[in-house]
Amino acid sequence: MSSLFTPLTIRGLTIKNRITVSPMCMYSSIDGFVNDWHVVHLGSRAVGGAGLIITEAAAVSPEGRITPDDLGIWHDEHLPGLKRITTFLAEHGAVAGIQLAHAGRKASTYTSWKGSGIVPEAEGGWQTVAPSAIPFHAGQPAPTELDQTGIDRVIADFRAATLRALAAGFQVVEIHAAHGYLLQEFLSPLSNARTDSYGGSFDNRIRLLLQVVEATRAEWPAEYPLFVRISATDWTEGGWTPADSVALAAILKDRGVDLIDCSTGGNVPTADIPVGPGYQVQFAEKIRQEADILTGAVGIITNAAQAEAIIASGQADLVLLAREMLRDPYFPLHAAQELGVDVAWPDQYARAKRAKK
Ligand SMILES: Cc1cc2nc3c(=O)[nH]c(=O)nc-3n(C[C@H](O)[C@H](O)[C@H](O)COP(=O)(O)O)c2cc1C
Repeated sequence: MSSLFTPLTIRGLTIKNRITVSPMCMYSSIDGFVNDWHVVHLGSRAVGGAGLIITEAAAVSPEGRITPDDLGIWHDEHLPGLKRITTFLAEHGAVAGIQLAHAGRKASTYTSWKGSGIVPEAEGGWQTVAPSAIPFHAGQPAPTELDQTGIDRVIADFRAATLRALAAGFQVVEIHAAHGYLLQEFLSPLSNARTDSYGGSFDNRIRLLLQVVEATRAEWPAEYPLFVRISATDWTEGGWTPADSVALAAILKDRGVDLIDCSTGGNVPTADIPVGPGYQVQFAEKIRQEADILTGAVGIITNAAQAEAIIASGQADLVLLAREMLRDPYFPLHAAQELGVDVAWPDQYARAKRAKK
């Protein structure tokens, strides 16, 4: 009996196993649109047996993109492409999730294989926004501090994106509040120096995320799960802490969030992060235990035994794999074989299911 291959039901939705494709930017869109790359990339992972596939960060507004090449969901014209993804994933038994995101002060950067640093406006870049006019890297151009009108627009953009996600056929929404992007910038005292009701105290710094969650949950059907990805620690003195994450998770649970996807870091370029196998699982375990909410574990989870142990020992309810799923789109099918679990392969591939002869 494998825990990794035990279905998980959240609200009215059942996910066939605990293996989730972690959101991964492909930087392959023009004006936010889906193209064949996205369909083949995500579709391959559905064929490969993942239970839940969460798209890369989909920007809720053009200025919320990390790069000019990000996926977007700020316009109804994006819907047909997104629908291609959800239709194919559903046909192959995978639940389609979408990560809704705003990159804040880390927006308007070059895609790594096209350049480095900030894209100037003359080359299609844009003025970034943030809780405070503090750049991510010292010496970079400062973001514009959002005023109340700008904050209201961010909330409205997440709300509209949620409605589009539903229209496109997604069944899980994940709000991206990690990795130093806009919502985490509000959470962390290292990037939020505001003196109004969005800065200072813990309650003030979490306000925008709660408002985004409220707007999202209001539009998202009661039978569908809502996830929030957080950075459980800034790994930096004076920054956001694991205890803050537990407190936030308990509040989010009360507001209708179903699962906390527990990543870390990304808000402090100089943070010293002890990266290694399963290095973030401890936060999924802590938040699961102390806030009594479902969690997802992510970060250097690369093999079946490791993934099985995380679920079986109750450290998390889902495992999210990113780079291993790029190395092996069929990781779930291979993991099932390793763990001795009989899972269905696509009919088209059935002749390859048995061991090599
Ligand atoms: C190519 C690539 C793109 C990524 N894009 C996103 C993203 O859009 N949103 C996000 O929350 N994390 C993103 N991440 C982080 C991953 O989701 C994951 O948290 C991280 O890679 C650690 O997991 P891993 O060790 O399994 O790769 C990305 C990672 C990679 C490798």
